[in-house]
Amino acid sequence: MQVTPIADGFAARITGVDLSRPLDDGQFAEIKSLWMKRRVVLFPGQKLDDDTLVAFAGRFGRLFVHAQTSLLSKKRKEVMELSNLPEAERKTTHELDWHTDQTYTPQPVFGTMLYGLVAPTEGGQTLIADLAGAYASLPAALRDRVEGVTAVYSAEPRPKVRETPLNEGEKQRIPDCTHPLVRTHPYLDRKALYLSPLHMKTIGGLSENDSLDLIHELTAHATQPAHVYRHTWTVGDLIMWDNTSVMHRRTPFPPEVPRYLKRAGFYLPEDRAVPF
Ligand SMILES: [Fe+2]
Repeated sequence: MQVTPIADGFAARITGVDLSRPLDDGQFAEIKSLWMKRRVVLFPGQKLDDDTLVAFAGRFGRLFVHAQTSLLSKKRKEVMELSNLPEAERKTTHELDWHTDQTYTPQPVFGTMLYGLVAPTEGGQTLIADLAGAYASLPAALRDRVEGVTAVYSAEPRPKVRETPLNEGEKQRIPDCTHPLVRTHPYLDRKALYLSPLHMKTIGGLSENDSLDLIHELTAHATQPAHVYRHTWTVGDLIMWDNTSVMHRRTPFPPEVPRYLKRAGFYLPEDRAVPF
């Protein structure tokens, strides 16, 4: 197994491992530890079907099934289809602003994996911002405003960039949720901003407008080039990130440019599942 850093102070590329085969306990522990430490790891050149993707993701924890059932794979409900190919039931066609997965749930998903089947020839990159690095580099004045504060996260995204809005059933299943704005890593001695600009409504006792100003300020700080890894997709890439410590976004791509990724996610164990 070879490990190469691909971003300043976080993300790493791991080669020399075949994720379609069962990993022994030692290899798995090494990967999990490296992933948590680096927040993002990329495994290029993988060949995975739904079953092997689910088997690998399932080693990390109980698997996530997305509330938007029209996005789920017909073969395995734990696999989400992010596709604009003609056969896609619900097409993923637009850019998607900065967010962290499932912040609007009481026990958000821990890790997210994306696996590339058709790589866009233009745009459609995945950007990942290091919120642990961003927390560590916060100017003192900004740090004072986030320490010990909670925020409200909503399933209904703020800017209306979602391809298809949530239906009534989906909305009712996912009420707003409150979490700490500075999150402690469930296993490591590390804090991170718990930012999800797309889904955050209010911060502490601030009005919605003042909250928005603070969200913009924090986002601008966290998305400086020094804290961002920009991933241009190649077929066979599997990238996984730690939602306790990073946020991500998708850049725009022309509708006629094919793009097809699969996604899986896993939870923390019950005793560490609620952000603290
Ligand atoms: Fe996401």
